[in-house]
Amino acid sequence: MLVSTDLIDEMIEESGPTMLAEPVTADFVVIANRLPIHHSTLQGSSEWLPSPGGLVTALTSVLQSRNGLWIGWPGVSEDIDAPYTFEGIQLEAVKITREEYEEYYLGFSNATLWPLYHDAIRAPTFHRAWWHAYETINRRFAEAAAKSVSPNGTVWIHDYQLQLVPAMLRVMRPDVRIGFFLHTPFPPSELFSQLPWRREIITGLLGADLIGFQVPHAASNFSRIARRLLGATGTDSILHFDGRVIRVGAFPITVDTKLIQATTADRRVRERAAEIRRDLGNPEVVLLGVDRLDYTKGIQQRLSAVNEMFASGHLVGGTHVVVQVAVPSRESDAHYDLERHNLEQVVSAINGDHGQVGSPVIHYLHQNMPFEELVALYLAADVMLVTPFRDGMNLVAKEYVACRDDLTGKLILSEFAGAAAELRGAFMVNPHDLDGIKESISLALKAAPDEIRARMLRMRRKVFRHDVSDWAQSFLAALGSANTSPAQNEVG
Ligand code: G6P
Repeated sequence: MLVSTDLIDEMIEESGPTMLAEPVTADFVVIANRLPIHHSTLQGSSEWLPSPGGLVTALTSVLQSRNGLWIGWPGVSEDIDAPYTFEGIQLEAVKITREEYEEYYLGFSNATLWPLYHDAIRAPTFHRAWWHAYETINRRFAEAAAKSVSPNGTVWIHDYQLQLVPAMLRVMRPDVRIGFFLHTPFPPSELFSQLPWRREIITGLLGADLIGFQVPHAASNFSRIARRLLGATGTDSILHFDGRVIRVGAFPITVDTKLIQATTADRRVRERAAEIRRDLGNPEVVLLGVDRLDYTKGIQQRLSAVNEMFASGHLVGGTHVVVQVAVPSRESDAHYDLERHNLEQVVSAINGDHGQVGSPVIHYLHQNMPFEELVALYLAADVMLVTPFRDGMNLVAKEYVACRDDLTGKLILSEFAGAAAELRGAFMVNPHDLDGIKESISLALKAAPDEIRARMLRMRRKVFRHDVSDWAQSFLAALGSANTSPAQNEVG
């Protein structure tokens, strides 16, 4: 039964998130591992807040306009009930037990697939029990969608945690149009083939009508593997499998440029940027890193390069100041815990060697940050350091570019971030090459203002060409035109 939007709006006005108990159906369903809200328990009180990020903004507006439903895990213990609606969209929480969290989320998703999909920077761990939990949870998500989506409706599934859902859902609901988008990289065959369940994952994805990746290279990695492992036929962009046609393509995700423009135009944010520079001691140059604290992000290597530059005198304490924001992430995983420990040792060693009383050379913040504060930091930073070893896209790079309306600001960008394909005006680095990083920082610091403006202009033209809502619309338009009739599919 559909819940009236008027009723939802009334309830939101009165009390924020609502708790309804009626089953819902929707023409358009989004499935992602996480719901677009998270449970915050600050200062003794607890509340549900919207999760930050462009994906939530982009999908929320599509869902609002189509009275859609978002299915996801609320990220909290199964005893806490999540709201049934939020900001005009219907929500359905998929519950996950403590043991499933360990095996499906920490295990198969983040200790098997995450490292495997990021160049095996950490050795992926393969455990059969984790795989079984992954199957169980993927089935749970598929069942939730199967019972909620209207006849001939559309379901859009997101990311590596849910790669079996497309095929599972197709069996349960063959009438439904299914799209899948992978936010991470997709590895080449040499790496992917390590996975004991490689055929199952590819079969799972091939249940979709359209499979989207961040960059063309990931799409062709996938299509090649589908042909080689499962005997699919066709090209890198159109596969034929099991009597169906599956479209495969690159849909590079981007940022919410309208929100960024509104935030940079806010006087308080500009003032905060000036205040940050003052608080840092009015240095000539502020260098900034903003990352989820993840071993794929190359934070330690980047700071080691900076350390060597302070040691050699190419950077000078007081004149050059580094701010590194490391957003807490997946803290119950030992790899992440170790990464934090090692990173904090590097930070304190650098400050110990090069800092002064009252003026450290690195300001390290291990915390979540409100978006306005992040934008103030982008405005305050002369040099942005984005040096992941591998990244599906990296929206920090695009956010920085979108903020720099005065055409100043230098972006040091890893060639292994998806964003590198678009942001050609960046100072490109190999994040494994410390000398290369040092050289790029020096080049960026010495570059003439005209060169910096030209580089930034080139990048801003690219970033402002599409907004994150255009990204969602273009994926959904491609999915809408994908051919879902089995009879016609056979001809195709
Ligand atoms: C990456 C993944 C997302 C994930 C996010 C945060 O961006 O592609 O799917 O939600 O990291 O990680 P978490 O494990 O906290 O959801």
